[in-house]
Amino acid sequence: MDVLTALLLLVHLIPVSTAKNGVSSKSRKRIMPDPVTEPPVTDPVYEALLYCNIPSVAERSMEGHAPHHFKLVSVHVFIRHGDRYPLYVIPKTKRPEIDCTLVANRKPYHPKLEAFVSHMSKGSGASFESPLNSLPLYPNHPLCEMGELTQTGVVQHLQNGQLLRDIYLKKHKLLPNDWSADQLYLETTGKSRTLQSGLALLYGFLPDFDWKKIYFRHQPSALFCSGTCYCPVRNQYLEKEQRRQYLLRLKNSQLEKTYGEMAKIVDVPTKQLRAANPIDSMLCHLCHNVSFPCTRNGCVDMEHFKVIKTHQIEDERERREKKLYLGYSLLGAHPILNQTIGRMQRATEGRKEELFALYSAHDVTLSPVLSALGLSEARFPRFAARLIFELWQDREKPNEHSVRILYNGVDVTFHTSFCQDHHKRSPKPMCPLENLVRFVKRDMFVALGGSSTNYYDACHREGF
Ligand SMILES: *[C@@H]1O[C@H](CO)[C@@H](O)[C@H](O)[C@H]1NC(C)=O
Ligand SMILES: *[C@@H]1O[C@H](CO)[C@@H](O)[C@H](O)[C@H]1NC(C)=O
Repeated sequence: MDVLTALLLLVHLIPVSTAKNGVSSKSRKRIMPDPVTEPPVTDPVYEALLYCNIPSVAERSMEGHAPHHFKLVSVHVFIRHGDRYPLYVIPKTKRPEIDCTLVANRKPYHPKLEAFVSHMSKGSGASFESPLNSLPLYPNHPLCEMGELTQTGVVQHLQNGQLLRDIYLKKHKLLPNDWSADQLYLETTGKSRTLQSGLALLYGFLPDFDWKKIYFRHQPSALFCSGTCYCPVRNQYLEKEQRRQYLLRLKNSQLEKTYGEMAKIVDVPTKQLRAANPIDSMLCHLCHNVSFPCTRNGCVDMEHFKVIKTHQIEDERERREKKLYLGYSLLGAHPILNQTIGRMQRATEGRKEELFALYSAHDVTLSPVLSALGLSEARFPRFAARLIFELWQDREKPNEHSVRILYNGVDVTFHTSFCQDHHKRSPKPMCPLENLVRFVKRDMFVALGGSSTNYYDACHREGF
């Protein structure tokens, strides 16, 4: 099957709204598994196209759903950057020709695209912690650089921002019209794609924001753990997890054969091809409807892609079962979750600061957080994935605060390990904040199975 056929298949698999991107808040995209349209077995091409997250498909979202007597107190948004150019090239092939400039007459388009570019060109270095101030504020290369955010990536986050604007600002009045700088908390890793994704979301959320009220902090670690990153036990879990991954790969003879065939086509040793992580580049071809590369020895094709992607899916399945990644995740996600509950607790005390927090991050950020929360069934973070924590106050019982957790618009609160059976025992529509706090302060270490009940001990456990 060629790329075009795959994309045509997508059109049949996912109902496509004809509404213009994000213009109508009534337009809906299917996100929850739908027995009618979702294939019963995991289809690698279908999974890959969900990962692309190609815009133009409007979206069903459950953010902000609450009984009328609940008041929204604060919102904490974790995103993966949008669609990007590959990080690796397939050796000895022409890299895909993708244009990373932002132009109106190219799809996908968003009505705020030109205004976004114009607003970004007015931005000043004062809004960014060093070294962010040396990064370009929007993608601008006629041939994308490695890892650069594409127009697709910008549109994805303009849409995310606009969706959150409609729900949190227009409907729930999270921020006053004259919001101030300290009501936002903005943090990003030091890559241009995360900074630009954060800016696109922020622009969709607060169009034409005042640059003087914006300050992006720089986060050096993809785990968002700066200051508390040192954790030897976490690294041991990671090494064991990598070993598991390696052994699974060795067992897959079809995968080895596929790498061998592809290596022959591009005329490099198999080892070199594998090291070039060809799936990353192939996904870019697929997401952008660019045919896979050819040489005079033949073409990389959809069958190769399917074998590698299928292996990736199997790898994720085994990863869930073996729990090594869970150990890594519980320790890796603690600092950012701890930071988040700290922010929530301050908001429950009536402080009006950091009511909207945005962390612009990577798949290797979101994935451990999902796993640590017990959301192991959640799909791997697609481009422009969003994970949101909402904090609510019951107006009828002002001392009670509750949280909702949403992943790509789906309410997953009662799938988390700290609130799994809550709704079976309680009629409350949300999870008590105490559950999340208890989990982050203590239970996530207990879940590791040792005797540690805090981060430091769990990170330094002997004899692990
Ligand atoms: C994919 O590209 C082909 C040309 O290579 C084009 O004819 C087709 O319309 C494109 N498909 C989609 C879904 O954009
Ligand atoms: C957790 O957050 C609190 C502040 O809310 C801080 O004092 C503490 O050091 C943090 N712990 C870790 C391990 O990050």
